[in-house]
Amino acid sequence: MFYMRILLLGSGGREHALAWKISQSPRTECLFIAPGNAGTAQLGTNVDIGVNDFERLKDFAVEEKIDMVVVGPEDPLVNGIKDSFRSDARTAEIAVIAPSGKGALLEGSKDFAKAFMSRHGIPTAQYRTFNKATLSEGLSFLETLKPPYVLKADGLCAGKGVLIVPTLKEAQTELQQMLDGMFGHASENVVIEEFLTGIECSVFVLTDGKNYRILPEAKDYKRIGEHDTGLNTGGMGSISPVPFATETWMQKVEDRIIRPTINGLAEEEIDYQGFIFFGLINVEGNPMVIEYNCRMGDPETESVMLRLKSDLVDLFEGVVSEDLDRREVVFDDRAAVCVMLVSGGYPQQYAKGYPIEGLDDIKDAIVFHSGTAVRDGAIVTAGGRVLAVCAYGKDKDEALKTAFKEARKIHFTDSYFRSDIGQDL
Ligand code: AMP
Ligand code: GLY
Repeated sequence: MFYMRILLLGSGGREHALAWKISQSPRTECLFIAPGNAGTAQLGTNVDIGVNDFERLKDFAVEEKIDMVVVGPEDPLVNGIKDSFRSDARTAEIAVIAPSGKGALLEGSKDFAKAFMSRHGIPTAQYRTFNKATLSEGLSFLETLKPPYVLKADGLCAGKGVLIVPTLKEAQTELQQMLDGMFGHASENVVIEEFLTGIECSVFVLTDGKNYRILPEAKDYKRIGEHDTGLNTGGMGSISPVPFATETWMQKVEDRIIRPTINGLAEEEIDYQGFIFFGLINVEGNPMVIEYNCRMGDPETESVMLRLKSDLVDLFEGVVSEDLDRREVVFDDRAAVCVMLVSGGYPQQYAKGYPIEGLDDIKDAIVFHSGTAVRDGAIVTAGGRVLAVCAYGKDKDEALKTAFKEARKIHFTDSYFRSDIGQDL
């Protein structure tokens, strides 16, 4: 057996969940996480290098004889980490589980993603893209749409680049402001699209560029307040499986969306070996794409990893050797859920550095760290989303009951969680 020296990039709950799964593999010789958090430190060695510091990451990979790099967040993917490793003679042979920079444009440019979908007949909302020179056309185009209006900055905006506005007047003002630099370069181009009504679901695929494997699907809860009210967050919880993602529905997803996407990438000779996250919406029984991401979701990964029985490192090897069709993906039949404990004030201003108590009392949940750090030997809060409390159950309700019971044992100043995760379905 060939043992792997693995470097995982990122520092959130998604990366702790990936580290948990990677460290369970008999194929893993050692695991480094850059930069990691207090949770990943329990499963491997944290390395103090930023995810976009490609030169230092490559130096480290060479020094530590890394065999495989797994990338958590979108930033380094869109910045071309795959191309950077590949074009450097010292690191060209290291397996990087990631799309090329071009492939990562599925997330890095909304206009690229929409044009890709229309080239390949993939169902998504009707759209047009505008820039400063075509502002007046944009303003007229808005007049042809029905409210609410959906405006998307073309580039990466840390999840903040989508505006949904109720009136034409506001939409026209927002379009002007976006093109005037509301999100810097990211909103030099703005995608305006038709508003779709339905329930959302996240579907994840791992691809070697030719073959693909579908991972357990999940639903995340984005708003800060109960019953989906208040500001958008990075995600307040997740559940898997998703009740409306029946076998018939998933077949439609595979036939109309997943296969055309993988084939489209191959046809256009776009190097893509990694995860694809399909942000879908169920419109009267028909799945449509809201967005692509070139990575796993957070906090979906926390639930998805609980439900993945297969060896993740074996699947990654299938990506590298392009024989993913011969690797098996086995799902756990149980439901898995994730409830996020966040800092009071999040997603706006919040304080950091509060000691976290009660972690040792957790018995029936798996707790992934999202924003934590170690200070004087104690675990303290270090982010808006602090901990992901995850649990299994025979169904989502049983899993949620356990997750909430365990979440209530954990204490830090001003902590908050949504106690209605999974209740809308
Ligand atoms: P995105 O960053 O593209 O995922 O957009 C953020 C959120 O805005 C999505 O998760 C949806 O809830 C919502 N959204 C985006 N596009 C649309 C659309 N065309 N119709 C309805 N809701 C949308
Ligand atoms: N949970 C949504 C995301 O990771 O973008």
